[in-house]
Amino acid sequence: MDIRLLRSSDLPLIQHANLENLPENYFLKYYLYHALSWPQLSFVAVDVARPKKTPYDYPKIVGYVLAKMEEDPADGVQHGHITSLSVMRTHRRLGIAEKLMRQSQLAMVETFGAMYVSLHVRVSNQAAIHLYKDTLGFQNEKTESKYYADGEDAYSMRLDLSTIR
Ligand code: ACO
Repeated sequence: MDIRLLRSSDLPLIQHANLENLPENYFLKYYLYHALSWPQLSFVAVDVARPKKTPYDYPKIVGYVLAKMEEDPADGVQHGHITSLSVMRTHRRLGIAEKLMRQSQLAMVETFGAMYVSLHVRVSNQAAIHLYKDTLGFQNEKTESKYYADGEDAYSMRLDLSTIR
């Protein structure tokens, strides 16, 4: 498994993975905006061991993290934000999401001097909450009522990045 920086040419496959894995979907231009504005922060996991079926076959993207810097932070503190993270069902529980998140967090600090990273997660998403809270050390800041289009609440979480600064 390779974890590498996202390239613009990956975007259709990332959009496909996002559609498979999450109800929060975006236009291609929103992915492109991330890739062009903060090319250091988004990563993909590529299954390089997958056998080639045809000469035109390409390695499969099995996970991605799409991240950005907050452009006009309300608190005036430079920080990153995880827009979207997902791993294909066939490749879950192998540590891929944790690796993607750690790579992005490191890049936020090294490239932009981020003080913390924030994200939103559905209150029912036990797998992601375990990853964020227990594995990565995020803290729950507040619950945002009816944050999602279907009316579900979100936990607004953040991770202090001072430990890796
Ligand atoms: N139930 C409980 N714990 C879980 C689960 C689960 N279903 N899945 C993973 N974990 C735990 C792992 O055991 C591991 O814990 P550990 O450090 O104690 O061993 C930790 O979470 C990290 O596991 P990874 O293998 O790195 O996670 P994985 O690669 O399987 O990806 C993810 C986790 C991204 C949540 C995946 O299940 C997924 O893609 N889900 C659908 C999309 C999604 O919910 N994305 C997050 C939305 S929030 C946002 O995008 C900002």
